Amino acid sequence: MKYIIGNFKMNLKNSEILNYLEEMKDVSNENVNIIYVPSNIYISEFIKNKLNVGIQNVSEYQKGAYTGETSASQASSVGVKYALVGHSERRQVFNESNEIINNKIKQCLDNSIIPVLCIGETLEEKNNNETSKVLNHQIKTALENIDDTSNIIIAYEPIWAIGTGEIPNIEDINQICLDIKEYVQKEYNSSNIVLYGGSVNSSNSIEILNKEHINGVLIGGASIKIEEFKKIIRNV
Ligand code: PGA
Repeated sequence: MKYIIGNFKMNLKNSEILNYLEEMKDVSNENVNIIYVPSNIYISEFIKNKLNVGIQNVSEYQKGAYTGETSASQASSVGVKYALVGHSERRQVFNESNEIINNKIKQCLDNSIIPVLCIGETLEEKNNNETSKVLNHQIKTALENIDDTSNIIIAYEPIWAIGTGEIPNIEDINQICLDIKEYVQKEYNSSNIVLYGGSVNSSNSIEILNKEHINGVLIGGASIKIEEFKKIIRNV
């Protein structure tokens, strides 16, 4: 079973979401777990349509006077099953630290939401051969003081590949996903699902999803292009 997660980011208006749902109504593939991650205001539409839903961000706090935030327990209460945590846009644009990411993961796990922990290196770090050091550090800080890490999904998303049309060599992605699995096995004694994200489209997805150690993909831009997303799902 492969995972395909569509991260819509801050895109699509209400009428476009309704059209999207109509178009995707009969799209399924028994080999794929499809998870839609729209903006919060549309989550209930996806739930109504009995689709698997993730939330793009949860609060690091439990509840209370935090205007504009959505808690993991609120998300869980409407039927959200997954949450993106530590996406590079959150780290870079909203200055999310590893400590905040760690808190958010704890909030998710406490509320039966599966966190999708996003990690990835910058181009500079890649060119300095620091990829594995950076990834291991991000994992280590995100998983601090968590007893059972086995339910966490890890998404390897090199920052230089997000939204750029550039992707790493697919053999390298496969190897990095394996390295991540071996690292969490060794450090936490846990077997985790590991995905790839960054400029996945209907042409490169076939080879990516055929690789043994890549359990699925996290898709941004191509997930809101209906025909493109359908092709990606059908081709698995
Ligand atoms: P992209 O985004 O597919 O548009 O590169 C991926 C992501 O941000 O998760």
